[in-house]
Formats: sequence, structure tokens, C-alpha cells
Amino acid sequence: MKSFKIAGIEIKSKYVGAPLAGYSSLPMRKLDFSYGSYLNYTEMTSCNALNYHNSKTDAMLPLEKEEGLLALQLFGSDLETVIKAIKYIESKAVYDFLDFNLGCPAKKVLKQGSGSYLLQDKDYLYKLMRNIVITSSKPVICKMRLGFNSIEGVEIASILEQAGVQAICVHGRTTKELFMGEVHYDEIRKIKDRVSIPVIANGNIGINNIEQVEQITNADAFMIGREAIGYPKIFEDLINKEEGREIRKKNFLEQEECFKKHIELACKEKDELGACILLRGVAAAYFKGLENMKELRMKLVTCSSKEEYYSALNEYKKKNFI
Ligand SMILES: Cc1cc2nc3c(=O)[nH]c(=O)nc-3n(C[C@H](O)[C@H](O)[C@H](O)COP(=O)(O)O)c2cc1C
Repeated sequence: MKSFKIAGIEIKSKYVGAPLAGYSSLPMRKLDFSYGSYLNYTEMTSCNALNYHNSKTDAMLPLEKEEGLLALQLFGSDLETVIKAIKYIESKAVYDFLDFNLGCPAKKVLKQGSGSYLLQDKDYLYKLMRNIVITSSKPVICKMRLGFNSIEGVEIASILEQAGVQAICVHGRTTKELFMGEVHYDEIRKIKDRVSIPVIANGNIGINNIEQVEQITNADAFMIGREAIGYPKIFEDLINKEEGREIRKKNFLEQEECFKKHIELACKEKDELGACILLRGVAAAYFKGLENMKELRMKLVTCSSKEEYYSALNEYKKKNFI
């Protein structure tokens, strides 16, 4: 299995678990790690909310060393607010890299001048990132888009490198392009050719295009987002492909086992009702693409307890396997 390094720290797999708001909490990170992602990201965390000691935001902070390596992702815009938030997480949270979000295109984030909004004012971007690098005791990395309205990836990446950022993950789209349409892998390549820090490629990467993406971008590593929702085995598939081994097809029993692990991990992390309601979003994804699933998937998105999930799965198995 090929590895790469950020700030001299070895990352034992070049397939990285993405920050995914609403998904990449501890259970998903644990499952992704168990299938072969070695670096995983938290969901994005608001610097503003951290400074207000918002209890929901505090509950998202990782308090114990996780398996593999963890990038804690922050978003914010005002320099003082961001610096204060970094000091706060340094006193509380356990993580390996501090990631700063320069990619989010959501309206409510842009309205605060955060996420990919920051790509527009290059002087402020440099000042903000330089101060983050100086303040943080952990290596700072960034997840960026190629630009806001137009493609300026090389310029932005060079600014980040000059500010002392130690690796960049590039979602190969502009803010305007949101999450749809072609990913500009050729632009990620231009960035890779320009900077000497590691580049992690991101955007629509999966088992069918990994070789092509690797060839075009020459990136050091590859971040997987939506493909891993309800399918953490994607990381094992990618490693098997890299090492020339056969890739087992997605099948019900393995997906069921994995989903049950997800349920148990989620219910350990928070109260059963809260966890089970959140799990509805991921439940249908676990069984997507398998045959004869319509009824089960519809049932799973209404479950409110472990018991309801387990009995829906058992009922399906009775009808289809026994
Ligand atoms: C539901 C959802 C939540 C996301 N949350 C975050 C986030 O918190 N921070 C971030 O930098 N990107 C976030 N992203 C973007 C992903 O990390 C990733 O860049 C994007 O989905 C493209 O990669 P993919 O095609 O592999 O999904 C999110 C994307 C989705 C679909």
C-alpha cells in the first residue's frame, strides 16, 4: 500500500476520508479507517460557534486519540475569531492536523465571509492563513476549490504554500460549479506541478476513474467524499485495485454487517434516538445499487431505534435469504 507524507508525518494510505458535514463524525471515520483510509477529516466546525462554547459544536470535537490520523477542520473568516478558536481547540481537542476550509459553497457559509468566499481576496487570504500557521501548534492544511467564479487554482495554491500551509486538498471545481459537472483534473495537475507541498486530489473520484485521475493529476493522495457515504469499503476496493487484487462486489450481507457496526458506533457516541434519526440519511445509502431494495430502503428511512433497524433488516433477510 502506497503512503505519502505531510509535514514529515507518514500517512499510510493515499486514500483519504473527506470532511462531510452530517456524516464524517467518529462512526464514519472509524469505519473508513477499518477499510483502509488512514487520514480522515472531521465535519467542518465553526470558529464562531466554538468561541460561544456552543454545546452542539463542542460535542463535535474529538476528545480522544483516534486510530489513524485526524484533520480537524475549521471554518471562519474574521482573523481574531479564528485565532481564538484555534487556541480553544488546542486546549480541548485531540487531532493531528488543523485543516482550514476554503471550499464550502453553501450560502449560509459564504454569507459569513467564510469557506470559498475567502478565495476572492488574496491579500486577506495570505494574512489569515499566515496567522493560522503561526498560531497552530499542529501542521496546517487547507481544503480549497479552484477559485470562486473563475479558475485561479495555481495562484491560490501558491499563496497557501507561501503562508506555510503544509498540504492542500483541491476539489477540482470553482464555487460557482458547486458539486456538479466535470472536475478539472488538469487544473489540479497544474497546481501539483507548481507547489512543492503534497496535493490531495478531490472531486468525483471512485473505483472506475482512480487510475485516470492519478495519471492526469499526479497527486500525492486522493480524497473520497460521497462515494464513501454508506460504502466505507470503497477504501478497501481502491487499495485492492492499486495492488492488483480482485475487488469483491458490493453485496447485501457485507453491507448489512457494516451498517450494523455503524449503528452500534453511532449509538455509543450519542443518545439512541438522536443517533438513529441521523442514521436514516446513511441507511438508504448502504443498500443503494443492490437488487430488490426499494421496500427495505423505504423502511430504513423511518426507523427511530436500533430495534427498528434490526427488525427491518431481519424481515428483509427472512423474505430473501431463508
Ligand atoms: C453532504 C456533504 C457535506 C460536506 N461537508 C463538507 C465539509 O464539512 N467540509 C468540506 O471541506 N467539504 C465538505 N463537503 C465537500 C466534500 O468534502 C468533497 O469536497 C465533495 O463532496 C467532492 O468530493 P466527492 O465527489 O468525492 O464527494 C461536503 C460534501 C457533501 C456532499
